[in-house]
Amino acid sequence: MTPYIETRGLSFSYEDTDGNLHPALEDVSIEIPRGQFVAVLGHNGSGKSTLAKLINMILIPTKGEIYVDGQLVSSPGEPDEDVIFDVRRRIGMVHQNPDNQIVASVVEEDVAFGPENLGLSPDDIRLRVDASLEAVGMRSYATSSPSRLSGGQKQRVAIAGIIAMLPECIIFDESTSMLDPAGRRDVMNTILSLNRSRGMTIIHITHDMAEAALADRVIVLSDGRVTLTARRTKFSRASRR
Ligand SMILES: Nc1ncnc2c1ncn2[C@@H]1O[C@H](COP(=O)(O)OP(=O)(O)OP(=O)(O)O)[C@@H](O)[C@H]1O
Ligand SMILES: [Mg+2]
Repeated sequence: MTPYIETRGLSFSYEDTDGNLHPALEDVSIEIPRGQFVAVLGHNGSGKSTLAKLINMILIPTKGEIYVDGQLVSSPGEPDEDVIFDVRRRIGMVHQNPDNQIVASVVEEDVAFGPENLGLSPDDIRLRVDASLEAVGMRSYATSSPSRLSGGQKQRVAIAGIIAMLPECIIFDESTSMLDPAGRRDVMNTILSLNRSRGMTIIHITHDMAEAALADRVIVLSDGRVTLTARRTKFSRASRR
């Protein structure tokens, strides 16, 4: 079956002000099936965020290609704006800091931001906002000010804003790392339910082994390369011994 996301020989180097290249990702070839929940682990600086930004087309590869649903979307050179728009609608990203992700002063307005940019009718926007807030358990906060929410609640609002775009995949880049234990648990439960009840493909970047153990599969990066990819069955059997 065609993988949902596939990278082939994906490499990326950051260029410094003197024009020197610093490799951050090297020759990464991975396949992520539709509906899989993948955890990405790795030390600081191992290239996890770089991989996420490449998949979301915030960065463009220095070498290699990215395919989504079998279609080539990203390769070295000038990217096509329409392709970027389509990829970002299909693959959403939630970042680390809950405070940097909310733009509006009312929760439901924030969630409406994405669907408004898709040019939907006000009725459709309303439906999507309500359904998205419901999905993350934040419907009763629709008219609240985000500034009154906890970190975990803000992350769930950020997730609702992405769900409202009806994406096929969400990338979480250490989205639980700044939260207290209750916030982490709520966000992880939200992620699991998106994966299990909607079949959404999830890429969860984390340093937390307990969170990684919830995934179907773990990919470990080290110094910009994939050093391990393990399915959960093997993983859990091995760790139970
Ligand atoms: N904007 C940038 N300019 C130059 N180098 C960068 C930039 N962003 C990241 N790097 C470098 O690229 C490498 C990979 O960084 P990346 O942020 O992808 O790692 P990471 O695995 O997400 O780390 P962390 O766990 O700290 O978030 C590191 O050596 C980092 O210093
Ligand atoms: Mg990172």
